[in-house]
Amino acid sequence: MIAADLLAWYDRHARVLPWRAPPGSNAADPYAVWLSEVMLQQTSVATVRPRFAEFLERWPSVEALAAAADADLMAAWAGLGYYARARNLLACARAVVREHGGRFPDTEAGLRTLPGVGDYTAAAVAAIAFGRRAVVVDANVERVVARLFAIAQPLPAARPPIRAAAETITPEARAGDFAQAMMDLGSGVCTPRAPKCLLCPLRGDCAGFASGTPETFPAPKTK
Ligand code: ADE
Repeated sequence: MIAADLLAWYDRHARVLPWRAPPGSNAADPYAVWLSEVMLQQTSVATVRPRFAEFLERWPSVEALAAAADADLMAAWAGLGYYARARNLLACARAVVREHGGRFPDTEAGLRTLPGVGDYTAAAVAAIAFGRRAVVVDANVERVVARLFAIAQPLPAARPPIRAAAETITPEARAGDFAQAMMDLGSGVCTPRAPKCLLCPLRGDCAGFASGTPETFPAPKTK
């Protein structure tokens, strides 16, 4: 069972990251999860880690962030890039406070109505913060799934079959841990070059491994 094997691996090997609740617990704070997912969209885990801690110390709740001055938020965002994200961050915090009484909507559809929250962020927050079964596909997950199912099309044509395959392996329970386990597997084991298949808990179920050339999935983007 892919999900069961992956979750057992995650219980032993999950990266300890400041926005995560311990594996298996449901204690993740929706505000912290949302903030981390927005920060992580185009910025690496190593860069985000200390900046996330600073943000959370300065603005410990969605109410605190909603009350921040625009200029303070923009200054605090320096170096994280893509300033539209910072503007959306404030707009979203204010919408949560004004329109939702300070509580994040707890479904994917509800989350998607918030400023700056797209399909990825809505799925990630629904799964990680609220334990909803949501299919969370970022670039790491895309690579893991393309290899597991030996999906041969190049990106972006491979995206629909990758999503459909991801859908089939996402469990009802612990969907947030499952999503983060896929991310950890993609970042540490199922790496773009020289994947460490001998350390992979999914090797036995992996069509890419069976093919002998797992690193060729997904095929590079066609230009
Ligand atoms: N990248 C995006 N979201 C992440 C998460 N929750 N954990 C690790 N890496 C991530």
